[in-house]
This record gives sequence, C-alpha cells and structure tokens, in this order.
Amino acid sequence: MKILLIGSGGREHAMAWKMAQNSTVEKIYCAPGNGGSAKENKCENVKLEKTEELIKFAKENNIALTVVGPEAPLVEGIVDEFKKSGLKIFGPGSLGAKLEGSKSFSKDFMKKYNVKTAEYAVFEDASKSLSYLKSCSYPIVIKADGLAAGKGVVICEDYTLAEETIKSFMVEDVFKGSGKKVVIEEYLEGVEASILSITDGKTIIPFVSSKDHKQIFDDNKGPNTGGMGAISPNPYCTEAVLKSFNEEILKPTLVGIQEERMDFVGIIFFGLMITKKGVYLLEYNVRLGDPETQVVLYLMKSDFVDLINAAIDKKLSDFDLKWHEGNACCVVASSKGYPKKYNTGYEISGIDDAGDKVFCAGVKLEDGVYKTSGGRVLCATAKGTTLDEAIERAYRDIEKIKFDGIYYRKDIGRAK
Ligand code: AMP
Ligand code: GLY
Repeated sequence: MKILLIGSGGREHAMAWKMAQNSTVEKIYCAPGNGGSAKENKCENVKLEKTEELIKFAKENNIALTVVGPEAPLVEGIVDEFKKSGLKIFGPGSLGAKLEGSKSFSKDFMKKYNVKTAEYAVFEDASKSLSYLKSCSYPIVIKADGLAAGKGVVICEDYTLAEETIKSFMVEDVFKGSGKKVVIEEYLEGVEASILSITDGKTIIPFVSSKDHKQIFDDNKGPNTGGMGAISPNPYCTEAVLKSFNEEILKPTLVGIQEERMDFVGIIFFGLMITKKGVYLLEYNVRLGDPETQVVLYLMKSDFVDLINAAIDKKLSDFDLKWHEGNACCVVASSKGYPKKYNTGYEISGIDDAGDKVFCAGVKLEDGVYKTSGGRVLCATAKGTTLDEAIERAYRDIEKIKFDGIYYRKDIGRAK
C-alpha cells in the first residue's frame, strides 16, 4: 500500500514514522514533508501543495490512502475534492472542518448540542463589539472567527487591550478576512488538556490524554507559540475529569455531528479547560495537535494505519485501541527569536544520536546536512515508566542537539 501524507511539521514526521510501522505499507510520500521525513523509513518527500497537483499525483502513483495533517487544506475542502475524484482520503469534509475553521460556527454548534463551553457573543460590527466590551468584566477573551495560524486568540486584561484587539482584527484586518467576525468569550481559569480522538461519525474513540505547553518561556510566561513541548497522559486528567469530558463534551458532540449530517470521518481534537466549575470545551480542532501527536503516537500500541482504515470503513466500534504503559514527553527546540522574527539556515547536529526519537519540523536536508528552516525546529520525544523518567530521557536527547541560537524550555512536564 502507498500512502500520501500532506503536511510538513513535527506532527507529520511523527505520523509518517508511525504509519511506516505497518507491514502492508510500502511507501509514504510526504507532501512536502521535511528533513526528518526525508530520511524516515519508507518515506519520500514530494514537492506538491495544490489540491489539483495532489489529486493528479495520487491517481498517477496508485495511492491507496491520503492522510491530511494540517487544518488549512481540510477547511478548504480537500477531502470533498479527493472524494469527487474517487480517491480514498482520511479527514472531514468542508462542513465538518468548519468546527475548526469558524469559531462562531463551532460555538453555535456547542450551544445547540449542550456541549459545556464558555459563554460567548459573536460580532461582525466593530462599534457594536466595542459597546459590548464596555459592559464586560475582565479579563475577557477575543477570538478571530477564522483560521489565524494560532495567533487569533487574545486574552484581554482590560478594555484598552480589548479595543486594540478589535481594531487590529476587525478594522486593520490583520488576518485578511479571518478576524472580520469575532467571538468574545468568558475567560476561564484552570489547567488545559488536549484530548485527540478519532471518529467514523458513529463512534468517537478518545486517545490517551495529553498536555501542551503553549508559552515560549518557563513558568508559562511570554507569548503563545504553536506548542513548546507536551506530555502524555495529562496528570490533570483524572478519572473524574475524563468522566465529565465523556458525558458533557464527547457524547453531545457525537449527537451534534450526526444530527448535522456532517458525515465526519477523521480526527477530532478537544481543547479542554479543567476549572473549579467543571470541564469546559475551549475549541475543536479537526486534525491532530502539534506537539501532542508526537507524544500520543509514541504511546500508541495499535497500528495507526489500521485505525484510520477502521474509521474510513465505519468500523471503529469494533476497534480495540491499545496503548503502551507509561508516559511520554517531548521537548521542542526552537530558533532564537521565535515566535517573533528568527533566522534560519543553521546546521543542526545530534538528530541521529537520540536514545529515543527526534521528530523534525523546521528542518531541511541539504546535501545530507540538516539545517534549520522554521521557528519550531524539532522535538525530542521519549518514553518512560514514570513521567519523571520520560522527562529525563527527552531532556537527555535534546541536550545532544546543537544549532546556532537553539532554545528550549527547561520545565516541560513540570509546569502547570
Ligand atoms: P483556542 O484556539 O480557542 O484553543 O485558544 C488558544 C488558547 O487561548 C487556548 O489554548 C487557551 O490557552 C486560551 N483560551 C482560549 N479560550 C479561552 C477562555 N475562554 N478562557 C481562558 N483561556 C482561553
Ligand atoms: N498544540 C496545539 C495545537 O496543535 O493546536
């Protein structure tokens, strides 16, 4: 079987590594992939991005299955296009992908189906949103409705910041359309958890819980990033938390995707806030998280390709998803300056010296030499029988990595 995997991040390197373990898989084409997938077992990078090019490639190369990593192609409707061409692809169609692609759509969906979430209001008019913001108590959360590469959420401590945010999102239009509509939301205090899951539209199977570390600096300080490290399971996901999640979030979500006839086959990622008032859903994503995928797939014992095929065949209720015992931790190394401006092109050493596994993200391979090519560069991922051991092993591996300006947090798995 030949697979086409779309995307170029650390998440996609981890997906490629995991899918390559299936004995019926002979080749994984990574479009466009990165320096890590370039050298991964059974993998080959292909320079393709546009949907038409990908469809042509899938037809000409006898691709049995296409798997989509990032959200943007899903929201743009790549799954509908592949299906129209008679090609097998894993992911939701454009209607299901709106659960991530439009925050107002997903909040309305949560409200309609009684999924526990923060109170909110939606605005398309800047002056109306400002008069509403004058009457709110602070902090308050302002979210751009559309995709904004992880930069579309601002927690406003006071009206001054709220006004600035509205001006930049709605008037200056910094997200080129994505912030013309905003969701203004009640601020929730607590600890976050990521629960990735897979669905065939009839059953949702949650994966082992995980925890991202979104801010750039230790002690959760500084601006948000794509994610600077993760652990799995998430120590805050107690049995009681998982029970509330199941009853108040997962089950009503499944009812909603059925009632709305989304024909949702793909990944649903629940971004949770565990608070003193209970477990709330902050957001849905319709793809795997990065870097949560690196730890979660590292702990997955079952075959990932078989799992995806079971979802496509709508047979998830028969699938016995198994996990390795223990814990996993991953530490992301980033370029100096990230998430703001940074330089690339620095030589990287130590990638192939890991005792566990290094997943590459912003890494390119030039004449056999690894070089930095992005903000989040790579991610050292390790397992342990305890969380402490997993953390220790991930740090042991990240310390072997060298490149100019390397930065990583020192408290992954320890910070709240
Ligand atoms: P989202 O893209 O909706 O997950 O938001 C990105 C990040 O903003 C989340 O991971 C949280 O850290 C934070 N956030 C989002 N919504 C809220 C909220 N209602 N209260 C507190 N923090 C939030
Ligand atoms: N790590 C968070 C995300 O992938 O959205």
